[in-house]
Amino acid sequence: MPTASIDALVTDPPYSSGGMVRGDRTNTTASKYVGFTSADGRPNGGAYEEFTGDNRDQRGFHYWTALWLGEGLRLARPGALVMVFTDWRQLPTVTDAIQAGGWVYRGVVAWDKHNIARPRPIFRSSVEFCVWGSAGSVADYPPATTSSILACAPPRDREHMTQKPLDLMRSLVKVTRPGGTILDPFMGSGTTGVAALAEGRQFVGVELTDHYYAVAESRVRAALGQATGRDSQDVLDFGESVA
Ligand SMILES: C[S@@+](CC[C@H](N)C(=O)[O-])C[C@H]1O[C@@H](n2cnc3c(N)ncnc32)[C@H](O)[C@@H]1O
Repeated sequence: MPTASIDALVTDPPYSSGGMVRGDRTNTTASKYVGFTSADGRPNGGAYEEFTGDNRDQRGFHYWTALWLGEGLRLARPGALVMVFTDWRQLPTVTDAIQAGGWVYRGVVAWDKHNIARPRPIFRSSVEFCVWGSAGSVADYPPATTSSILACAPPRDREHMTQKPLDLMRSLVKVTRPGGTILDPFMGSGTTGVAALAEGRQFVGVELTDHYYAVAESRVRAALGQATGRDSQDVLDFGESVA
C-alpha cells in the first residue's frame, strides 16, 4: 500500500490471550474465546471456524504488534487515528506497542459488553479495550463528543467467534475524518468495513483465514450495495485471496 494513504487504522487483531496462565494462550481460539457449551453439551466454539495468529508468546506478540503498527504508521496520513482492540491481559502490551510503532498514544476506550461474560470470582470479565492514538497532531479534529465508555452487547448472530457489534464499530469510525480511508489489517468477518461504509468512509481490509475472507467479502459487498444503492460488482474491485 502507498505511503500516507489512510486516515485511520481500526482493528481487532488476534489477542494472543485467553485463560489465566501462560500455557492457556496456546489453546484453540474457540476454547479461549467461546468457552461455554450449548444446550446439547457441544462447545459453542465448535460452531465457528478457527482463526489464525493467536498463539504468540508474550515477547513475540509485543514484537509483532509493534512491527505492524510501525508499518501502519507509514501508511498513515498526518493526523490519522489508530484504534486497536485488546483485553485486560494484553492492555499494557498494546499501549507499549502503539508507542513502539511510533504513534502518539492518546487513551483507551472501554467497551462494556453488558456483563454478559461468564461469572468469575470477584468481578465479571465484561470489558474489552480499544487503545487509540494518532499519527502526530490531532489539532484539526472537532471537539470530542463521543464517550470513552461504549456499552453494547456482542452480536447474537455472529459469523466470527470474536465478531464486534456493528454499533460499536460505527461509534469508533464516526470520529475518523469524514470520507477518509480506513484500514483493518485483521478484518475477520469485516465488521469494520461494514461500519466504515455505513458511515461514508472508504475501506481497505485484509484477512488471512480463507473462510473469514469470504464472509467479510460478502458482508462488505452487501454494505457497499446499501451505501451506494448500486450493485457492488460495478463499484468494487476485490483483491485476490492470497493462499
Ligand atoms: C479477532 S479477529 C477479528 C474479528 C473482527 N473484528 C470481526 O468483527 O469479525 C482477528 C482476525 O485476524 C485474522 N488474522 C490473523 N493473523 C493475520 C494476519 N497476519 N494477516 C491478516 N489477518 C490475520 C484472523 O484470521 C482473524 O479472523
